[in-house]
Amino acid sequence: MIVLALDVYERERALRIAEDVREYISMIKVNWPLILGSGIGIIRELKERTGLPMIADLKLADIPNTNRLVAKKVFEAGADYIIVHGFVGRDSVRAIMELGEIIMVVEMSHPGAEEFIQPVADKLIEIANEIEPFGVIAPGTRPERVRYIRKMLKKGIKIFTPGIGAQGGSARKALEAGADYIIVGRRIYGAEDPRRAAEELYKEVRAWSSG
Ligand code: XMP
Repeated sequence: MIVLALDVYERERALRIAEDVREYISMIKVNWPLILGSGIGIIRELKERTGLPMIADLKLADIPNTNRLVAKKVFEAGADYIIVHGFVGRDSVRAIMELGEIIMVVEMSHPGAEEFIQPVADKLIEIANEIEPFGVIAPGTRPERVRYIRKMLKKGIKIFTPGIGAQGGSARKALEAGADYIIVGRRIYGAEDPRRAAEELYKEVRAWSSG
């Protein structure tokens, strides 16, 4: 299943792309670029136009009280899931979970993730298994790590893998390794024809999952 990472600034462009690719995707993820470019109201607008669940990728990493204050506003704005960092500790993560569903970062997809976050991935998996978030983020650029995280993670916790396409990860390899959702940004919104790019990816993913 495909999650569109809609990292554009402009409201009109975001709405147009979302409507164009709607039938090929399962969720929309908004990150700081779109929130800063178009305002927090874009979450509800996208949700109403497409009928899709919305992920707010804020990667919250603050003390429990501040996490709670921010998350309250973001859930009120229509987000169904918020992406949060686990390295700040259980209390900070739980503060958000008390208000709504979360997706917790276990390991990131960029090269720098090997410096600090990969060495503590086991501890983050342990926290995830204890608090049972809706999902975790694992690196689509490293299928062997996705496979490991799948093996260590409690059943039922979904795995989301960014890093597919522009960062070099393969959709098929991430899914084979155990990802439930692939997160794709530039490969779709940066394409000359986003609808066609989404359709191609959808067919690739579907062919693999039914084959
Ligand atoms: P691209 O254009 O690279 O966009 O397909 C990927 C989207 O996903 C976000 N991203 C991550 N989010 N952990 C996360 O929580 C990660 O390891 C990670 N890698 C990429 C990125 O910010 C963009 O929105």
